[in-house]
Amino acid sequence: MKILVINGPNLNMLGIREPGIYGKRSYRELCALIEKTCAEKGVECEIFQSNHEGAIVDRIQEAYGKEDAIVINPAAYTHTSVAILDALKAVALPAVEVHLSEIREREPFRQISYAGMACEKTITGKGFAGYREAIIYLVDRFERK
Ligand code: DQA
Repeated sequence: MKILVINGPNLNMLGIREPGIYGKRSYRELCALIEKTCAEKGVECEIFQSNHEGAIVDRIQEAYGKEDAIVINPAAYTHTSVAILDALKAVALPAVEVHLSEIREREPFRQISYAGMACEKTITGKGFAGYREAIIYLVDRFERK
């Protein structure tokens, strides 16, 4: 099994960016946790981060026929991008949406998630642990099939 983990804009700034909301740990530490979780579960993983909507759409399209599942934190594009929603629907891979913060308790403009409409599951407000939960969910789902 191969999992693609996609992180949207400004997540590369973790640790520096609004630590009161997103924590003090760096993006590198997040990647290490994702890699460790995938290694423990015995699956391959690829991590992709971009600040550009079109690059994220391109990467989702590339996953077709190549990866088995997607974990995605589209960051700010969560709340704006129909293109990312359509790309997820196009490849139709099992996907889980992750947000570090509890978006449901934040500003009104964060209350809609387009990407989430194409995801089987949404995990919010659990910090880095949300990625771990998403990976474990997708591996278990894959192994049940
Ligand atoms: C985020 C929440 C989004 O609203 C925000 O734009 C982000 C990060 C999160 O992980 O909590 O950049 O996706």
